[in-house]
Amino acid sequence: MEKIIMYPADNEKDALDWKTVQGQHITAVRRNILVLGSGGREHALAWKLAQGEGAHIFIAPGNAGTAQVGTNVNLKLSDFEAVKDFCLKQEINLVVVGPEQPLVDGIVDFFKNDEALKTIKIIGPDKRGAQLEGSKAFAKDFMEKYGVPTAKCLKVNKDNLDEGYKFLESVKAPYVLKADGLAAGKGVLILNDLQEAKDELAKMLNGKFGAASSTVVIEEFLKGIEVSVFVLTDGEHYVLLPEAKDYKRIDDGDTGLNTGGMGAVSPVPFCTPDFLNRVEERIVKPTLKGLKAEGIDYKGFIFLGLMNDGGNPYVIEYNVRMGDPETEAVMTRIEGDFADLLFACADGRLNEVHYAKSDKTAVTVMMVSGGYPEAYEKGKKMSGLEGLKDVVAFHAGTAFNTDNEVVTSGGRVIAVTAHGSSIEEARTKAYREVEKIHFEGVNYRHDIGLDLMQLQ
Ligand code: AMP
Ligand code: GLY
Repeated sequence: MEKIIMYPADNEKDALDWKTVQGQHITAVRRNILVLGSGGREHALAWKLAQGEGAHIFIAPGNAGTAQVGTNVNLKLSDFEAVKDFCLKQEINLVVVGPEQPLVDGIVDFFKNDEALKTIKIIGPDKRGAQLEGSKAFAKDFMEKYGVPTAKCLKVNKDNLDEGYKFLESVKAPYVLKADGLAAGKGVLILNDLQEAKDELAKMLNGKFGAASSTVVIEEFLKGIEVSVFVLTDGEHYVLLPEAKDYKRIDDGDTGLNTGGMGAVSPVPFCTPDFLNRVEERIVKPTLKGLKAEGIDYKGFIFLGLMNDGGNPYVIEYNVRMGDPETEAVMTRIEGDFADLLFACADGRLNEVHYAKSDKTAVTVMMVSGGYPEAYEKGKKMSGLEGLKDVVAFHAGTAFNTDNEVVTSGGRVIAVTAHGSSIEEARTKAYREVEKIHFEGVNYRHDIGLDLMQLQ
């Protein structure tokens, strides 16, 4: 028996039930999905969603890699009207917002408040919810109010600078200074010297990161190992997506400048069921309770940047989106149709869908442009991308030149993900293929996952 259902249908619930029970008989489910963003995270999201039934993926603006799994659309993410026009013209059913900026700027509010867009589902928090990432001061107040474990802190502006100096004198080095607002991932300073910390605090308040640092959060330094835990919530229910460890420094051995992330491993050996249970009880549940109590309708991802101190989790930061490069590892470990999970999230019925994770280990190695995270050149021709074996190469900063060749177009260029039954096996495969990819100035870390191997 065959049945043709266009999903979402008039009666969405029946359509989905039918699909779940009799999935193999449905021949024409069509889901038009728009992924907003242009990095490795968005390629990984689009890659995963494209494997779903009836999925037609559009990526705005996308990159040379997303063009392999869907259609790139030249839209500016700050131009909500243009996004709207495209969604209506293309009959988009679901919008997945990759980066934080459009969320902080209110793209979800824009969709919710526009009559013509009301039937289009969108994954991400509204402007108020996005403050969990958009304002560190808001996030700290929220955690204090709802009892979420985090580092002690003081919020400082020009009016209480002296109090800020006193706070710095009262804590031990290293000193952690955070710009309140979004500062392109650069707004956190960690300093060993007290005088330097005081000087930097003054500089930040005087506009070092523009308006983003007119308020600064000074935090106590947390000890431990970091891990990224990803929650997908519909406001009422949630699922924990696979967790991952990110490698933030540019050089081997966690040295050198901070970057957006040089690699990832998932799962993380120290994230035992017991640790994850503590994360759920002490962090996820109070966070969702707090969002509800504040009247924030949150349908989307919550990325918990955690410190594991002797088995106890503390929140370093909330992000309101998936991580990059964590997503390039995480998406490869999600089984089944990810769109089912996202539609269920948007409909508030995450409790009804079954979701499974692969027990394989994913290792992701990020290949970057020479000079990154400082100045680097773009437009370098890339070779070796064809014929890679047993890995997925997610494009981060790539584009087509006028001859339709793939060239570099960003600091982080390509993320190579391999699976194995151990970190060692996945690492070996990932690095074997990384060595086949060439562009002038290429750089990458050689030690992704090494620190975790002894824990596995
Ligand atoms: P954030 O942008 O808040 O994630 O901070 C960037 C990085 O700084 C984090 O990934 C941590 O490595 C580090 N960091 C931030 N806050 C703290 C803290 N309170 N204690 C120790 N390390 C921190
Ligand atoms: N990899 C860290 C982040 O996406 O913020």
